[in-house]
Amino acid sequence: MTSGNDMDGTMVWDSQGMPWSVAFDDQYFCKEYGYEEALYVVCQGNNLKERFSSLDSAVDGVFTIIETGFGTGLDFCCAWQLWDECAPRSWSLHFISVELYPLSADQIVRALSLWPCLSPHKEELAAQYRPGSGGMGDFSFGSGRIRLTVIFDHVIPALAAIKEQGLAPNGADAWSLDGFAPSKNPEMWSDGVFSGMAALSRCGTTLATFTVAGFVRRGLEAQGFEVQRVLGHGRKKNVLTGHFKG
Ligand SMILES: C[S@@+](CC[C@H](N)C(=O)[O-])C[C@H]1O[C@@H](n2cnc3c(N)ncnc32)[C@H](O)[C@@H]1O
Repeated sequence: MTSGNDMDGTMVWDSQGMPWSVAFDDQYFCKEYGYEEALYVVCQGNNLKERFSSLDSAVDGVFTIIETGFGTGLDFCCAWQLWDECAPRSWSLHFISVELYPLSADQIVRALSLWPCLSPHKEELAAQYRPGSGGMGDFSFGSGRIRLTVIFDHVIPALAAIKEQGLAPNGADAWSLDGFAPSKNPEMWSDGVFSGMAALSRCGTTLATFTVAGFVRRGLEAQGFEVQRVLGHGRKKNVLTGHFKG
């Protein structure tokens, strides 16, 4: 292991050069197929390809994704790549994420270098990404078609800030929940998080996550989400998708 330098001093590079959280004893993404898993869990789980492709090009609008746990930005870059491929030019993507222990731009570059197909996104992201503790970063990419907002705070106040500051005026179109395994980081999967999500959702808002833990499913259902286990990817037998019923 070689040490990293995230703002809590908890990230290291393991023997295979993958980012590993010492504090949470967990990986940032799947070692063997992190990119494919992000595409499968986050993008396919939220049906993003079809939804991006069917946006009405005769009008302009904003599609909003909210993520819990920005990490290396892998999920963000996958959504951005898909947006470039499928969405009409008149629409923009607002990707909002929360992150309490941000990695540096250099660490993000090193982590994302595993996937050459994300090279342009990685370079553009790293050129702007400057994490700050307790603040908010607002970044613009792809000639303004992509807006990234990261709230550098604990997930619960961060979700409240998104609501209070009107960052998602129409609520989220899709959620990606990715805060390490629930058994290792229950704070990212608490009722306070699920109620914060409900306050930022509307009828039809979708969600996707790699975990099928029972208390996560029950917590989401208690806040008005309908969830189902679906076939997983790689070694994950099942993952979770859902939508908000209100
Ligand atoms: C599995 S990683 C996220 C991976 C990420 N989605 C990606 O694409 O690389 C989980 C992230 O949640 C963050 N995190 C953990 N506890 C948190 C908390 N209470 N509030 C906000 N972020 C938290 C960690 O610092 C870590 O970056």
